[in-house]
Amino acid sequence: MTRFLPPLPPYPHSRLRRNRRDSWSRRLVAENSLSAAALIWPVFVHDEGRKLPIPSMPGVFRLPIAALIDAAGEAESLGIPLLAVFPAVPDAKKDPEGREALNPENLVCRAASSLKKAFPGLGVLCDVALDPYTSHGHDGVIRAGYVDNDETVEILCRQALAEARAGCDIIAPSDMMDGRVGAVRRALDGEGFAPVRIMSYAAKYASAFYGPFREAIGSASSLGSADKRTYQMDPANAEEALREVALDIAEGADMVMVKPGLPYLDIVRRVKDAFSMPTYAYQVSGEYAMLKAAAAAGCIDGEAAMMESLIAFKRAGADGVLSYFAVEAARRLKAG
Ligand code: PBG
Repeated sequence: MTRFLPPLPPYPHSRLRRNRRDSWSRRLVAENSLSAAALIWPVFVHDEGRKLPIPSMPGVFRLPIAALIDAAGEAESLGIPLLAVFPAVPDAKKDPEGREALNPENLVCRAASSLKKAFPGLGVLCDVALDPYTSHGHDGVIRAGYVDNDETVEILCRQALAEARAGCDIIAPSDMMDGRVGAVRRALDGEGFAPVRIMSYAAKYASAFYGPFREAIGSASSLGSADKRTYQMDPANAEEALREVALDIAEGADMVMVKPGLPYLDIVRRVKDAFSMPTYAYQVSGEYAMLKAAAAAGCIDGEAAMMESLIAFKRAGADGVLSYFAVEAARRLKAG
Protein backbone atom coordinates (compact mmCIF):
# COMPACT_ATOMS: atom_id res chain seq x y z
CA MET A 1 0.00 0.00 0.00
CA THR A 2 1.50 3.31 -1.00
CA ARG A 3 0.06 6.38 0.63
CA PHE A 4 0.19 9.98 -0.51
CA LEU A 5 2.12 12.07 1.99
CA PRO A 6 1.49 15.83 1.88
CA PRO A 7 4.68 17.89 1.62
CA LEU A 8 6.03 18.82 5.05
CA PRO A 9 7.09 22.34 5.90
CA PRO A 10 10.87 22.12 6.07
CA TYR A 11 13.27 22.54 9.01
CA PRO A 12 13.37 24.51 11.25
CA HIS A 13 9.55 24.62 11.27
CA SER A 14 9.31 20.81 11.32
CA ARG A 15 11.33 19.11 14.00
CA LEU A 16 10.46 15.43 14.30
CA ARG A 17 12.71 15.17 17.34
CA ARG A 18 10.22 17.25 19.40
CA ASN A 19 7.95 14.24 19.88
CA ARG A 20 10.90 12.09 20.86
CA ARG A 21 12.15 14.45 23.54
CA ASP A 22 10.51 12.88 26.61
CA SER A 23 9.52 9.40 27.58
CA TRP A 24 5.85 10.40 28.03
CA SER A 25 5.65 11.90 24.59
CA ARG A 26 7.43 8.97 22.99
CA ARG A 27 4.79 6.74 24.58
CA LEU A 28 2.06 9.06 23.35
CA VAL A 29 3.14 8.82 19.72
CA ALA A 30 4.06 5.10 19.72
CA GLU A 31 2.33 3.50 16.73
CA ASN A 32 2.56 -0.08 17.98
CA SER A 33 2.73 -1.87 21.27
CA LEU A 34 3.53 -5.33 22.51
CA SER A 35 1.53 -7.14 25.15
CA ALA A 36 1.68 -10.66 26.51
CA ALA A 37 -1.57 -11.36 24.62
CA ALA A 38 0.42 -11.27 21.38
CA LEU A 39 2.90 -13.92 22.51
CA ILE A 40 2.58 -17.60 21.68
CA TRP A 41 5.04 -19.86 23.47
CA PRO A 42 6.50 -22.91 21.65
CA VAL A 43 7.54 -25.64 24.10
CA PHE A 44 9.31 -28.98 23.71
CA VAL A 45 8.10 -31.99 25.65
CA HIS A 46 9.63 -35.44 26.12
CA ASP A 47 9.03 -38.62 28.08
CA GLU A 48 12.28 -38.58 30.05
CA GLY A 49 12.17 -37.82 33.74
CA ARG A 50 14.14 -34.60 33.71
CA LYS A 51 14.57 -31.24 31.97
CA LEU A 52 17.09 -31.47 29.14
CA PRO A 53 18.73 -28.25 27.96
CA ILE A 54 18.92 -27.61 24.21
CA PRO A 55 22.53 -26.47 23.76
CA SER A 56 21.99 -24.03 20.87
CA MET A 57 18.98 -22.45 22.60
CA PRO A 58 20.04 -21.21 26.05
CA GLY A 59 17.02 -21.11 28.37
CA VAL A 60 15.03 -23.64 26.30
CA PHE A 61 14.53 -27.22 27.47
CA ARG A 62 12.86 -30.46 26.56
CA LEU A 63 10.43 -30.75 29.45
CA PRO A 64 8.77 -33.77 31.01
CA ILE A 65 4.98 -33.28 31.09
CA ALA A 66 5.01 -32.47 34.83
CA ALA A 67 7.55 -29.69 34.31
CA LEU A 68 5.58 -28.45 31.30
CA ILE A 69 2.54 -28.05 33.54
CA ASP A 70 4.57 -25.92 35.99
CA ALA A 71 5.94 -23.78 33.18
CA ALA A 72 2.48 -23.38 31.65
CA GLY A 73 1.20 -22.06 34.97
CA GLU A 74 3.69 -19.23 34.86
CA ALA A 75 2.92 -18.53 31.19
CA GLU A 76 -0.79 -18.29 31.90
CA SER A 77 -0.28 -16.04 34.92
CA LEU A 78 1.82 -13.73 32.76
CA GLY A 79 -1.07 -13.38 30.29
CA ILE A 80 0.29 -15.57 27.48
CA PRO A 81 -2.83 -16.90 25.68
CA LEU A 82 -1.45 -19.93 23.82
CA LEU A 83 1.21 -22.64 24.00
CA ALA A 84 2.47 -24.56 20.95
CA VAL A 85 3.50 -28.05 22.03
CA PHE A 86 6.20 -29.99 20.14
CA PRO A 87 7.09 -33.58 21.02
CA ALA A 88 10.60 -35.05 21.05
CA VAL A 89 9.85 -38.67 20.22
CA PRO A 90 12.46 -41.41 20.79
CA ASP A 91 13.85 -43.04 17.62
CA ALA A 92 12.34 -46.36 18.68
CA LYS A 93 8.86 -44.88 18.07
CA LYS A 94 9.68 -43.56 14.59
CA ASP A 95 9.01 -45.38 11.33
CA PRO A 96 8.81 -44.38 7.65
CA GLU A 97 5.03 -43.89 7.88
CA GLY A 98 5.06 -41.83 11.09
CA ARG A 99 2.46 -44.14 12.65
CA GLU A 100 3.01 -42.83 16.17
CA ALA A 101 1.38 -39.57 15.03
CA LEU A 102 -1.97 -41.40 15.06
CA ASN A 103 -1.59 -42.95 18.50
CA PRO A 104 -4.22 -41.30 20.73
CA GLU A 105 -1.87 -41.88 23.68
CA ASN A 106 1.18 -40.35 22.02
CA LEU A 107 3.31 -37.77 23.79
CA VAL A 108 1.76 -34.66 22.28
CA CYS A 109 -1.79 -35.93 22.95
CA ARG A 110 -0.94 -36.70 26.59
CA ALA A 111 0.72 -33.28 26.95
CA ALA A 112 -2.28 -31.50 25.40
CA SER A 113 -4.82 -33.27 27.60
CA SER A 114 -2.73 -32.69 30.75
CA LEU A 115 -2.41 -29.01 29.90
CA LYS A 116 -6.15 -28.60 29.26
CA LYS A 117 -6.95 -30.41 32.51
CA ALA A 118 -4.61 -28.19 34.53
CA PHE A 119 -5.37 -24.91 32.73
CA PRO A 120 -8.68 -25.00 30.86
CA GLY A 121 -8.34 -21.30 30.05
CA LEU A 122 -4.96 -21.59 28.37
CA GLY A 123 -4.99 -22.29 24.62
CA VAL A 124 -3.10 -25.30 23.28
CA LEU A 125 -1.83 -25.52 19.71
CA CYS A 126 -0.48 -28.71 18.12
CA ASP A 127 1.35 -29.05 14.82
CA VAL A 128 0.02 -31.31 12.13
CA ALA A 129 3.01 -32.78 10.27
CA LEU A 130 4.76 -36.11 10.48
CA ASP A 131 8.38 -35.01 11.02
CA PRO A 132 8.53 -35.75 14.79
CA TYR A 133 7.45 -39.32 13.99
CA THR A 134 9.13 -40.33 10.71
CA SER A 135 12.41 -42.23 10.64
CA HIS A 136 13.47 -40.11 7.61
CA GLY A 137 12.54 -36.77 9.22
CA HIS A 138 10.19 -35.63 6.46
CA ASP A 139 6.77 -34.11 7.11
CA GLY A 140 5.00 -36.76 5.05
CA VAL A 141 5.26 -40.28 3.69
CA ILE A 142 7.65 -41.08 0.85
CA ARG A 143 6.57 -42.88 -2.29
CA ALA A 144 9.05 -43.38 -5.13
CA GLY A 145 11.51 -40.96 -3.54
CA TYR A 146 9.01 -38.10 -3.24
CA VAL A 147 6.88 -36.90 -0.32
CA ASP A 148 3.44 -38.02 -1.52
CA ASN A 149 0.96 -35.18 -1.16
CA ASP A 150 -2.44 -36.82 -1.16
CA GLU A 151 -1.57 -39.86 0.90
CA THR A 152 0.13 -37.60 3.45
CA VAL A 153 -2.96 -35.38 3.65
CA GLU A 154 -5.11 -38.39 4.57
CA ILE A 155 -2.74 -39.26 7.41
CA LEU A 156 -2.59 -35.65 8.57
CA CYS A 157 -6.39 -35.59 8.90
CA ARG A 158 -6.22 -38.57 11.25
CA GLN A 159 -3.37 -36.93 13.17
CA ALA A 160 -5.46 -33.76 13.54
CA LEU A 161 -8.39 -35.80 14.88
CA ALA A 162 -6.19 -37.52 17.47
CA GLU A 163 -4.95 -34.11 18.64
CA ALA A 164 -8.46 -32.63 18.70
CA ARG A 165 -9.73 -35.59 20.74
CA ALA A 166 -6.92 -34.95 23.23
CA GLY A 167 -8.24 -31.42 23.73
CA CYS A 168 -6.05 -29.39 21.42
CA ASP A 169 -7.71 -26.02 20.64
CA ILE A 170 -5.79 -25.05 17.52
CA ILE A 171 -4.55 -27.40 14.83
CA ALA A 172 -1.57 -25.98 13.00
CA PRO A 173 -0.73 -27.74 9.73
CA SER A 174 3.00 -27.14 9.30
CA ASP A 175 3.61 -29.65 6.52
CA MET A 176 2.97 -27.53 3.39
CA MET A 177 1.09 -30.28 1.54
CA ASP A 178 -1.41 -28.93 -1.00
CA GLY A 179 -5.03 -29.07 0.10
CA ARG A 180 -4.36 -30.06 3.70
CA VAL A 181 -6.20 -27.18 5.34
CA GLY A 182 -9.48 -27.98 3.58
CA ALA A 183 -9.09 -31.69 4.25
CA VAL A 184 -8.32 -31.16 7.95
CA ARG A 185 -11.28 -28.76 8.25
CA ARG A 186 -13.65 -31.34 6.76
CA ALA A 187 -12.25 -34.09 8.98
CA LEU A 188 -12.65 -31.97 12.12
CA ASP A 189 -16.18 -30.86 11.22
CA GLY A 190 -17.17 -34.43 10.36
CA GLU A 191 -16.21 -35.63 13.84
CA GLY A 192 -17.88 -32.86 15.82
CA PHE A 193 -14.84 -30.60 16.18
CA ALA A 194 -16.25 -27.54 14.42
CA PRO A 195 -15.01 -25.24 17.24
CA VAL A 196 -11.39 -26.39 16.83
CA ARG A 197 -9.48 -23.65 15.06
CA ILE A 198 -6.90 -23.95 12.29
CA MET A 199 -3.81 -21.78 12.27
CA SER A 200 -2.08 -22.70 9.05
CA TYR A 201 1.61 -22.38 8.50
CA ALA A 202 0.47 -20.75 5.28
CA ALA A 203 3.72 -19.31 3.99
CA LYS A 204 6.41 -21.58 5.32
CA TYR A 205 9.83 -21.40 3.72
CA ALA A 206 12.52 -24.05 3.30
CA SER A 207 14.79 -22.30 5.77
CA ALA A 208 18.21 -22.81 7.32
CA PHE A 209 16.86 -21.18 10.48
CA TYR A 210 15.06 -24.34 11.67
CA GLY A 211 18.31 -26.06 12.64
CA PRO A 212 18.04 -25.87 16.45
CA PHE A 213 14.37 -26.96 16.36
CA ARG A 214 15.29 -30.10 14.45
CA GLU A 215 17.90 -30.85 17.13
CA ALA A 216 15.33 -30.20 19.84
CA ILE A 217 12.74 -32.63 18.47
CA GLY A 218 15.39 -35.04 17.25
CA SER A 219 14.51 -34.91 13.55
CA ALA A 220 17.86 -33.45 12.44
CA SER A 221 19.72 -36.75 12.44
CA SER A 222 16.80 -38.49 10.72
CA LEU A 223 16.73 -35.88 7.96
CA GLY A 224 20.53 -35.95 7.53
CA SER A 225 21.57 -34.00 4.47
CA ALA A 226 18.08 -34.08 2.95
CA ASP A 227 16.04 -30.88 2.72
CA LYS A 228 12.36 -29.97 2.44
CA ARG A 229 12.51 -27.92 -0.73
CA THR A 230 9.99 -30.04 -2.61
CA TYR A 231 7.25 -28.86 -0.25
CA GLN A 232 8.40 -25.80 1.71
CA MET A 233 8.68 -22.51 -0.16
CA ASP A 234 11.68 -21.05 -1.95
CA PRO A 235 13.04 -18.05 0.03
CA ALA A 236 13.25 -16.17 -3.28
CA ASN A 237 9.46 -16.02 -3.61
CA ALA A 238 6.91 -13.54 -2.31
CA GLU A 239 4.03 -13.57 -4.81
CA GLU A 240 3.74 -17.31 -4.27
CA ALA A 241 3.32 -16.70 -0.52
CA LEU A 242 0.18 -14.68 -1.27
CA ARG A 243 -1.19 -17.56 -3.34
CA GLU A 244 -0.45 -20.01 -0.52
CA VAL A 245 -2.21 -17.79 2.01
CA ALA A 246 -5.21 -17.21 -0.30
CA LEU A 247 -5.66 -20.95 -0.72
CA ASP A 248 -5.46 -21.66 3.00
CA ILE A 249 -8.05 -18.97 3.73
CA ALA A 250 -10.35 -20.34 1.03
CA GLU A 251 -9.94 -23.82 2.53
CA GLY A 252 -11.00 -22.61 5.98
CA ALA A 253 -7.95 -21.38 7.90
CA ASP A 254 -8.98 -19.19 10.85
CA MET A 255 -5.53 -17.69 11.29
CA VAL A 256 -2.49 -17.64 9.05
CA MET A 257 1.20 -17.74 9.82
CA VAL A 258 4.40 -16.69 8.12
CA LYS A 259 7.58 -18.56 8.99
CA PRO A 260 10.45 -17.82 9.66
CA GLY A 261 9.99 -14.37 11.19
CA LEU A 262 12.48 -11.52 10.99
CA PRO A 263 13.96 -12.43 7.58
CA TYR A 264 10.40 -12.55 6.18
CA LEU A 265 8.78 -9.40 7.60
CA ASP A 266 8.07 -8.21 4.06
CA ILE A 267 5.82 -11.26 3.67
CA VAL A 268 4.07 -10.57 6.99
CA ARG A 269 3.28 -7.03 5.86
CA ARG A 270 2.02 -8.10 2.45
CA VAL A 271 -0.13 -10.88 3.88
CA LYS A 272 -1.71 -8.56 6.45
CA ASP A 273 -2.40 -5.88 3.85
CA ALA A 274 -3.78 -8.30 1.28
CA PHE A 275 -6.09 -10.37 3.51
CA SER A 276 -6.69 -8.54 6.84
CA MET A 277 -6.65 -11.94 8.52
CA PRO A 278 -5.43 -12.72 12.02
CA THR A 279 -1.77 -13.01 11.02
CA TYR A 280 1.09 -14.52 13.02
CA ALA A 281 4.81 -14.84 12.53
CA TYR A 282 7.08 -17.55 13.89
CA GLN A 283 10.36 -16.24 15.26
CA VAL A 284 12.02 -19.60 14.75
CA SER A 285 14.67 -21.50 16.65
CA GLY A 286 17.61 -20.22 14.57
CA GLU A 287 16.55 -16.63 15.11
CA TYR A 288 16.39 -17.21 18.86
CA ALA A 289 19.78 -18.97 18.79
CA MET A 290 21.38 -16.08 16.89
CA LEU A 291 20.15 -13.45 19.33
CA LYS A 292 21.16 -15.52 22.36
CA ALA A 293 24.60 -16.26 20.89
CA ALA A 294 25.24 -12.60 20.06
CA ALA A 295 24.16 -11.59 23.56
CA ALA A 296 26.31 -14.27 25.20
CA ALA A 297 29.29 -13.08 23.16
CA GLY A 298 28.72 -9.57 24.47
CA CYS A 299 27.95 -8.22 21.00
CA ILE A 300 24.44 -6.96 21.80
CA ASP A 301 22.22 -6.24 24.79
CA GLY A 302 20.16 -9.44 24.71
CA GLU A 303 17.08 -8.13 26.44
CA ALA A 304 16.90 -4.94 24.39
CA ALA A 305 17.40 -6.90 21.17
CA MET A 306 14.67 -9.36 22.20
CA MET A 307 12.13 -6.57 22.78
CA GLU A 308 13.15 -4.76 19.59
CA SER A 309 12.77 -7.93 17.53
CA LEU A 310 9.29 -8.54 18.97
CA ILE A 311 7.95 -5.04 18.33
CA ALA A 312 9.26 -5.35 14.76
CA PHE A 313 6.69 -8.12 14.18
CA LYS A 314 3.88 -5.86 15.40
CA ARG A 315 5.13 -3.02 13.21
CA ALA A 316 5.13 -5.37 10.21
CA GLY A 317 1.44 -6.12 10.81
CA ALA A 318 1.54 -9.36 12.81
CA ASP A 319 -1.17 -9.80 15.42
CA GLY A 320 1.07 -12.10 17.39
CA VAL A 321 4.39 -13.93 17.43
CA LEU A 322 5.37 -17.49 18.19
CA SER A 323 8.59 -16.97 20.07
CA TYR A 324 10.87 -18.91 22.41
CA PHE A 325 11.28 -15.54 24.15
CA ALA A 326 7.56 -15.45 25.06
CA VAL A 327 7.96 -16.02 28.80
CA GLU A 328 11.09 -13.91 29.14
CA ALA A 329 9.44 -11.07 27.21
CA ALA A 330 6.18 -11.35 29.17
CA ARG A 331 8.14 -11.17 32.45
CA ARG A 332 9.87 -8.09 31.17
CA LEU A 333 6.56 -6.51 30.07
CA LYS A 334 5.10 -7.19 33.51
CA ALA A 335 8.10 -5.60 35.23
CA GLY A 336 7.38 -2.49 33.11
C1 PBG B 1 7.67 -29.16 11.62
C2 PBG B 1 8.08 -27.83 12.14
C3 PBG B 1 9.32 -27.20 12.01
C4 PBG B 1 9.24 -26.03 12.77
C5 PBG B 1 7.96 -25.97 13.31
N1 PBG B 1 7.25 -27.08 12.90
C6 PBG B 1 10.58 -27.61 11.35
C7 PBG B 1 10.61 -27.98 9.94
O1 PBG B 1 9.69 -27.70 9.18
O2 PBG B 1 11.58 -28.62 9.58
C8 PBG B 1 10.38 -25.07 12.97
C9 PBG B 1 10.32 -24.21 14.19
C10 PBG B 1 11.60 -23.59 14.60
O3 PBG B 1 12.65 -23.66 13.93
O4 PBG B 1 11.58 -22.97 15.67
N2 PBG B 1 7.14 -29.26 10.38
